[in-house]
Amino acid sequence: MMRPMMDTAIEVVDQWEPDARAVLAPGDCLETLRTMPDGSAKLIITSPPYNVGKAYEKQTELHRYIDALLPIIDELVRVLSPTGSLCWQVGNYVEDGEVFPLDIFFYPVFAARGLHLRNRVVWHFDHGLHASKRFSGRYETLLWFTKDKDYTFHLDPIRVPSKYPGKTNYKPGDKYGLPSGNPLGKNPSDFWKTLEEDWESLVWEIPNVKANHPEKTIHPCQFPIELVERCVLAMTDAEDWVLDPFAGVGSAVVAALRNGRRGIGCERDESYLHLATERVQALARGTMPYRPLGKLVHKPTGREKVAQVPKEWMVVGEASVAKTGALSAAAEARADATITSLQEELWPAQPLLFGELDTGR
Ligand SMILES: C[S@@+](CC[C@H](N)C(=O)[O-])C[C@H]1O[C@@H](n2cnc3c(N)ncnc32)[C@H](O)[C@@H]1O
Repeated sequence: MMRPMMDTAIEVVDQWEPDARAVLAPGDCLETLRTMPDGSAKLIITSPPYNVGKAYEKQTELHRYIDALLPIIDELVRVLSPTGSLCWQVGNYVEDGEVFPLDIFFYPVFAARGLHLRNRVVWHFDHGLHASKRFSGRYETLLWFTKDKDYTFHLDPIRVPSKYPGKTNYKPGDKYGLPSGNPLGKNPSDFWKTLEEDWESLVWEIPNVKANHPEKTIHPCQFPIELVERCVLAMTDAEDWVLDPFAGVGSAVVAALRNGRRGIGCERDESYLHLATERVQALARGTMPYRPLGKLVHKPTGREKVAQVPKEWMVVGEASVAKTGALSAAAEARADATITSLQEELWPAQPLLFGELDTGR
């Protein structure tokens, strides 16, 4: 049930103003960034455009793409607060089936500007394109840098339930026999697939925003709001500015506003910017579709048709179902039994694959 998040409409302005709550600036982000004071953004979280273009010299093209972003990156480092964080979320650039993990190319750019890498977060999702000549890509990365060694990081608001909350200290001493964990939960780690809730033994994850995701808009690769929220809650305080220079449909701005922060997004595509403004207003009305942080991902029960091995793939007796096109009742029952035992054998045995290439986003 969606409840109103705010009492009144949120005023959205189109250029940087220190007292604004929400800025959605049209045009090239470089122009807006140049109007922002040094150190004004506590969190910069963004997914830069991947449009590297067609290339015959891939590495050269890639470096050209990164070089084109350098003036923007210089401005981002300038406007980043001394205790602030920059989260740079990227996947792979793929050309002729060859994979170029963009975080590898961006890391030296930020390191050369004095930023300190705190985590390389792997964001795993289950859906995407199916590759045929390499492993299907099911993760992207988020490079979390801070400007200094002293930085804001609040662990408590983003803790997730411990797997074994009943664990106790076993070493002799004052704490022997007492609970060893934190009652607020554990650190969510740098692998953002599973936020395990032990008492229900269920797996939680942050799905990417695909067709049936409640937040889906026309944007091809928008951030799930909950992914940004984890960074907002951990790396900022109330009233701080959260900046997304490549705002798309404004997911970072919405995540900031939902949590009592200020949000500024730049976007040069008018239709995305318009949608971003609508999402902010819908947030104020309490009608913005939103998938809450930590909500369970739908898991098939096995009874859904799409979760079952098609009978056409089964061989019953000498004849394959694909060939006969129809099954007798007895053959169908045998096929059902075989399918069930195959499912039991195959699916639980699938290892949790992790570390695949490419992205489906
Ligand atoms: C990967 S998408 C970001 C999507 C965003 N995270 C969201 O949740 O909707 C990159 C966006 O940057 C925009 N863009 C690219 N270059 C830009 C620039 N120089 N200034 C402003 N926006 C830009 C593109 O139009 C695109 O919508």
